[in-house]
Amino acid sequence: MTGTGKDRTSNAKLIAWVDEVAALCKPDEVYWADGSQEEYDRLSNMMVEKGTYIRLNPEKYPNSYLARSHPSDVARVEDRTYICSEKEADAGPTNNWMDPTEMRGIIKGLFDGCMRGRTMYVIPFSMGPVGSPIAKIGIEITDSAYVVCNMRIMTRMGQAVLDALGSDGFFIPTVHSVGMPLEPGQADVPWPCEANIANKYIVHFPETREIWSYGSGYGGNALLGKKCLALRIASVMARDEGWLAEHMLILGLESPQGDKTYIGAAFPSACGKTNLAMILPPEGFEGWKVHTVGDDIAWIKPRPDGTLRAINPESGFFGVAPGTSYQSNPMAMETLKPGNCVYTNVALTDDGGVWWEGMDGDPPAHAIDWQGNDWTPASGKPAAHPNARFTAPAGQCPTIDPSWEDPEGVPISAFVFGGRLSKTFPLAYEALDWNHGVFMASGMGSEATAAAIGQAAIRRDPFAMLPFIGYNMADYWAHWLKIGERKDIKLPKIFRVNWFRKDENGKFIWPGFGENMRVLKWIVDRVQGRAEGVESPFGLMPRYEDITWAGLDFSREKYHGITDIEKEGALQEAQGLAEWFAKFGDSLPPELERQRKQFEERAKAAPDVWSAAA
Ligand code: OXD
Ligand code: MN
Repeated sequence: MTGTGKDRTSNAKLIAWVDEVAALCKPDEVYWADGSQEEYDRLSNMMVEKGTYIRLNPEKYPNSYLARSHPSDVARVEDRTYICSEKEADAGPTNNWMDPTEMRGIIKGLFDGCMRGRTMYVIPFSMGPVGSPIAKIGIEITDSAYVVCNMRIMTRMGQAVLDALGSDGFFIPTVHSVGMPLEPGQADVPWPCEANIANKYIVHFPETREIWSYGSGYGGNALLGKKCLALRIASVMARDEGWLAEHMLILGLESPQGDKTYIGAAFPSACGKTNLAMILPPEGFEGWKVHTVGDDIAWIKPRPDGTLRAINPESGFFGVAPGTSYQSNPMAMETLKPGNCVYTNVALTDDGGVWWEGMDGDPPAHAIDWQGNDWTPASGKPAAHPNARFTAPAGQCPTIDPSWEDPEGVPISAFVFGGRLSKTFPLAYEALDWNHGVFMASGMGSEATAAAIGQAAIRRDPFAMLPFIGYNMADYWAHWLKIGERKDIKLPKIFRVNWFRKDENGKFIWPGFGENMRVLKWIVDRVQGRAEGVESPFGLMPRYEDITWAGLDFSREKYHGITDIEKEGALQEAQGLAEWFAKFGDSLPPELERQRKQFEERAKAAPDVWSAAA
């Protein structure tokens, strides 16, 4: 449907804004997406004709496509991501900032005529079930049909959203261009983008709730509902409106007794978040059921009944393909099975299927790699890009929660934070209270080898929000502390977990992701008042007998290995946190420094090796 949009919406503000963007970007035509299957199929076919998409074997992969990006355009570009708040201090020390007036000048230059020779698509989308009191409406203007089709999987998109918006509803305006206008007669390429990384811009104006993205067609750079809106802009709105926009999976755990406990869990990348979101109870957990609500983002609002209720604002998974297998994540594989997926930068097999490193079984004898070249196992390089992705409808996940689209959300009873840490940090511990929990999450992170000094250092990724916070990180911590002061909210318990401790031979002590349910059960049992723990310098920890070991041979000795706390390591962490907090200067909430000192005192008072294994 081309035209002015007047036939589609009575929202004058929206129509005027679309006209304004069209006047700037100068596309050949403007198309308002309706979100229908017919439209999806039509645009997909068009992309097959243009070479952007390869249709996969329809018997094995119904209604599914492969896209190969330009080699310069394979991941989110954090260095090119800006938070342009009025004041630099409001972006804080962890974000790239640029003066908004200066940035608006750059944007005007970049977007002027940037859609020449192309169609400008208008995508109305809802983050969260349409009409939910927790959901928000966004409009993405883009010159990429790939974005339109992926947005249809990742969000609720189309006419229903315009209907919900009405004539004066609020929307978040977002503009995206691949940054490759076409001169008359110039042939297009399968994956248009701005190849020069220094000319890519992912820009957020937090005060005016605007997003402008230029030069990339990939993932979070281009599907603006995800990281840009649902985390960076939403975190600012959440601060202003008294709720939480978090980089969390949402999981519902039902015990054999029938109680259901929902948790929100945040991990830095490469910690197996998607695996945890789709975990199956292992042997020994008969009668337990686990349900997935979301794998990446949670919007959590206090509701009138005192609960904190969460929705998954997305409706699809944009998962990392390499490493995903029936062994590592069977429910993710089952999610892909019915088809209706887009694969980006995976390998193409000779029978029209997809393959990536880490898939079950032997590698294919021959495939076409993510760059379109012949590949064999002897090629000596990966067939799929390490950040290759699948875009899959969440509703196809066999463990999807029956309430995953409940507009009221699901009640969260626990927050879980984790990182990849090879020593010092025990398997699991519970915060002594809310503020202690905020402290625990503010210092979380994963180990990075600091090559220069040859030592393992912690790369802090507080709340797993480092690349996704739309304002000053320290103010975000203050916001969490403020939520804790509210008398009208029944506060969830807060936990930290670490399944990555290694033994003296450098081997992981914990037997693997599938066993994480044992820790989740302790967390659920703590929430339900069924389990005990013992206070350690870090927090309340499960003793060996507090964990259910049925179906797994895990000795007390090994439990020592994964839970003992060495005084020296704990004191080093207290010192490391002092250095981390110092970055935030006066904006650091004093409560966090108070918590840090208390942690240091507990560590000093503890024996040289503190143990919960006894
Ligand atoms: C993601 C990320 O892709 O967090 O979800 O990087
Ligand atoms: Mn993520």
